Amino acid sequence: MNTWALAYEGFAPEHEGLREALCTLGNGYFATRGAAPESRADGVHYPGTYIAGCYNRTVSRVAGQEVENEDMVNAPNWLPLTIRTGDGRWLGGDDTELSDQHLALDLRRGVLTRTFRYRDGDGRTTRVRQRRLVSMDDPHLAALETEVTPEDWSGTLTVRSALDGTVTNAGVARYRDLCGRHLQVGSTGGDVPEETWLYAETSTSGIGIALAARTRVTAGPEPDATSVASRPDWIGCDLEIPVLPGRTVTVEKTVALHTSRDKAISDPRTAARAALARADGFAELLRHHTAAWRRLWQECAIDIGGEEQRVLRLHLFHLLQTLSPHTADLDVGVPARGLHGEAYRGHVFWDELFVFPLLNLHLPETARALLRYRWRRLPQARAAASAYGLRGALFPWQSGSDGREETQRLHLNPRSGRWLDDHSHLQRHVDIAIAYNVWQHYRTTGDLGFLAEFGAELLLEIARALSDLTAYDSHLGRYVIRSVMGPDEYHDGYPDREAPGLDDNAYTNVMTVWVLQRALEVLEELPEAGRRQLSERIGLTRAETARFACIAARMRVPFHDGVISQFAGYEDLVELDWTAYRDRYGDIRRLDRILEAEGDTCNRYRASKQADVLMLFFLLSKEELTAILRGLGYDHHADDPDLIPRTVVYYLTRTSHGSTLSAVVHAWVLSRTDRTSSWRFLCEALRSDIDDTQGGTTAEGIHLGAMAGTVDVLIRCYTGLAAQDGALRLKPSLPDELAHLSFRLRYRGHRGIQLDIDAAQVRVAVPPSSLSPLEVQCRGESTHIPPGSDRTLPLRYPPRTRPRQR
Ligand code: BGC
Repeated sequence: MNTWALAYEGFAPEHEGLREALCTLGNGYFATRGAAPESRADGVHYPGTYIAGCYNRTVSRVAGQEVENEDMVNAPNWLPLTIRTGDGRWLGGDDTELSDQHLALDLRRGVLTRTFRYRDGDGRTTRVRQRRLVSMDDPHLAALETEVTPEDWSGTLTVRSALDGTVTNAGVARYRDLCGRHLQVGSTGGDVPEETWLYAETSTSGIGIALAARTRVTAGPEPDATSVASRPDWIGCDLEIPVLPGRTVTVEKTVALHTSRDKAISDPRTAARAALARADGFAELLRHHTAAWRRLWQECAIDIGGEEQRVLRLHLFHLLQTLSPHTADLDVGVPARGLHGEAYRGHVFWDELFVFPLLNLHLPETARALLRYRWRRLPQARAAASAYGLRGALFPWQSGSDGREETQRLHLNPRSGRWLDDHSHLQRHVDIAIAYNVWQHYRTTGDLGFLAEFGAELLLEIARALSDLTAYDSHLGRYVIRSVMGPDEYHDGYPDREAPGLDDNAYTNVMTVWVLQRALEVLEELPEAGRRQLSERIGLTRAETARFACIAARMRVPFHDGVISQFAGYEDLVELDWTAYRDRYGDIRRLDRILEAEGDTCNRYRASKQADVLMLFFLLSKEELTAILRGLGYDHHADDPDLIPRTVVYYLTRTSHGSTLSAVVHAWVLSRTDRTSSWRFLCEALRSDIDDTQGGTTAEGIHLGAMAGTVDVLIRCYTGLAAQDGALRLKPSLPDELAHLSFRLRYRGHRGIQLDIDAAQVRVAVPPSSLSPLEVQCRGESTHIPPGSDRTLPLRYPPRTRPRQR
């Protein structure tokens, strides 16, 4: 099996959207779905090109209300290329005319190859092979090479290559009642027929987008004629090429893309045309593009063998296409669904929590830039906190261009057809995710400059808002946090309470304690002058930090039946008859929609969409959690060795996994107690997108958090890898199904550290450099490995007690 390839045979209209999403090519700056070049949005195909951070805002009227939404814009389509054989019809629109279709994504080189045969209405048969790339070398370039071979005819082959600004955002059926037109097309033109350009602007954000294209015959006879047709929103050039049977004609389309958000340009149109003029032909572009991918794979290599290996590569591939080294120079966040489709409108959620660990270990500059995205939006987050009467910064649940809250206030249940109130903006834990990422980035990179420059400010402002979110309940003698939602989106309120929100979501409360403790620690870490200046600048007082400490000692954590309660009052909810619902509906991952359509609500039941309490065991080690609980005076629970395993089992049986993030978290939390189940969950998370397990959602964009999360489970969870006082700590415990695991990472300046782990040993090789030796702590022993050398450390496993199973 080729673990570097994703291949599809034939054509299946029902799977086309999924294939397009999974065959997306991108470079962190922009990405283009793997749609056929001759296709248009027709319900089966959906060509889409998305530029990182390119958003636009529109107002629509639904259910009698005006709703404003900000969307990641479907940019003008650069792909269109079609052919006409003789005087027949243009290829496109009727897939039954095509045979022997084959689509292959080369993950190593980032090249999508498509081959097919085309039989026109007059019986002429033509073979076509197309290769495309979105350059990882130069983020403003893309190219499409098309080889056409007439099998049994001679005459005129006409190739039409276009730039299409008529596109709209129409990729998600649920949003089609909402306004999807974001582009105002300005102009088109070109000096010679082979070179055309199109300029468009987004309607409210005013982002200028320019595409310039060159279409040329690079092998085969010169065209007899070339002509251009244009409108302000579309421009195409036709090449009429005399062809003979068996003689292949090669046509190359090279495209440059710039927007007015780019640095070092005068205007996007001039920039795109100049970039195109400088651009090489396909072969050279491919050479540089492949070399850029080679460098990336060298740094991000991971090897586990088997079918999982291929999916892992696919996940890393899409992660690197969404967040690449080019991202480090952009003002963008982590789009939950990649640059691969329009689900969630390209918004940025807490999902970065699942993405950062990998970036910290592979592309720390990119991770830093993504934290900058948050930092730049502090003024908006401060305003949001202030609107609630809080100090500090309250980041939005969904973020886009300027960091205001982008969460929709109404959402459609496609099952019932009803538009419903959406309270998901009450997920204040997004602040926790950002603070956690700041701390982890600092711990992994040891970059004190980052902390001093902006990391500490972010973390402290978040700590302030979380601290102000708490209230002291004198009856309980504890601090509480009211009216929030946890990660489990099925519960947005109490069944008998009008106002939305839940009290004392355990995840939010415990992690708030953790954030407040880190805030105090950060103040300690900063040099005296830096601490003073920062506190003065943001007006942080001693009284406030003293309050941090009080809260961190008296926060409420609810418990019931010997487990941590998801929120206060959870025990009053009724049990769901899971078997009955599974029997009736089969797939109950979207139990919320099922119950709502029945006139019921998840709020009545002990039924979760995804890991909520269990997030605590995902983010904190047993020791950290125990210390927090003990610090809060919950000694009885902290000392209970079964608290964690009992809580895991309790919620595991009450979770529908309606989010792909859930399987990742479960793979993690089960890894020490039930490695077989952990592996099963990891495999499930690996299937999320390739098998579209959430039923039709991948076509609307990949699930970036789950993709990154699966790789992270291997790299950090099964290896116990963590940054510990500058050393790299390892505590491997591979599932029985995993015979070996090899990968590379970057740590504290060492680039390309190689780890090879199996049940018996771990080998660590440190690449040559002038850095100090790398300290590795493995199973309690510390080893210093000088650059340019390696060490093999034995692992002593307890004898296997479980039979091997698959
Ligand atoms: C999940 C959230 C997630 C969002 C975006 C939702 O289905 O419940 O946790 O942030 O998708 O991926």
